[in-house]
Amino acid sequence: MTVTHPRPIITTGRLATRMSEQEQAQLKDLLKTWAPDATFVAEGKPLEVELGMGNGMALYERAKANPAMNFIGSEIYLNGLQTLLKALQKNPLPNVRVYPEDARTLFTSGLLQPESLARVLILFPDPWPKSSHHKRRIVQPELIESIKQHLQKNGELWVVSDWPSYAYHTIATLYPIKGLQLEQTVRKAADCKPSARLAEDGAPGGEAALGPQLLMQAPVWWQTTKYQEKAQIAGRNPWFIKAIKTS
Ligand SMILES: C[S@@+](CC[C@H](N)C(=O)[O-])C[C@H]1O[C@@H](n2cnc3c(N)ncnc32)[C@H](O)[C@@H]1O
Repeated sequence: MTVTHPRPIITTGRLATRMSEQEQAQLKDLLKTWAPDATFVAEGKPLEVELGMGNGMALYERAKANPAMNFIGSEIYLNGLQTLLKALQKNPLPNVRVYPEDARTLFTSGLLQPESLARVLILFPDPWPKSSHHKRRIVQPELIESIKQHLQKNGELWVVSDWPSYAYHTIATLYPIKGLQLEQTVRKAADCKPSARLAEDGAPGGEAALGPQLLMQAPVWWQTTKYQEKAQIAGRNPWFIKAIKTS
């Protein structure tokens, strides 16, 4: 009997814009240079993993500012990868590696050891604001459970979004996961579910019910991301959610 695995749900809209075959070939070569491997992962430095890093420049700045830590950035948008790889080609950082696949597969690939990560970041994930698209949001219980298993004790998971309904969705998803402790927010998952409907993006009332003031502030190591800049120009500020692995 043949066992068929369901195709993973797509979590993003575009994979590349205007990239010549030559550019794609160059990208492939650079990706080989910066691929994460078992030696890098086992170096023993605190390890950060970012899912969907966009153009990767915020990760680049964090890595430059913190050479005592190692960083793996994942992204599937080729133009985003290209920006980071060009920066690394120009000014190499030995503590950075790039994973050009669906970020969710990093946690099933066997590359990362259980209980090994100091920090996992999901910054401004694709918002998928329509209810019928919420299943495409990358923050889902299975992924968070897998991230938790790879976090070391007291390791941190940060999810940052400029969409109130994504903040509610994240709290509702993280709250029930045993061994993950949400910091700062006093909201319970049950509070977030009805509020999430209230807070459908664009609808009035959502911000009042939770509001970024009841969440974390930007951490000291924060570097502004490209998407964050765009969101702020459009008048949307970030909502910072942090969870700690407790057991
Ligand atoms: C809205 S952008 C934010 C990018 C970046 N974090 C920033 O703040 O500028 C979301 C990014 O996540 C990436 N993405 C979405 N699903 C992904 C997945 N399953 N694996 C890797 N990257 C993904 C998209 O390609 C996109 O670049």
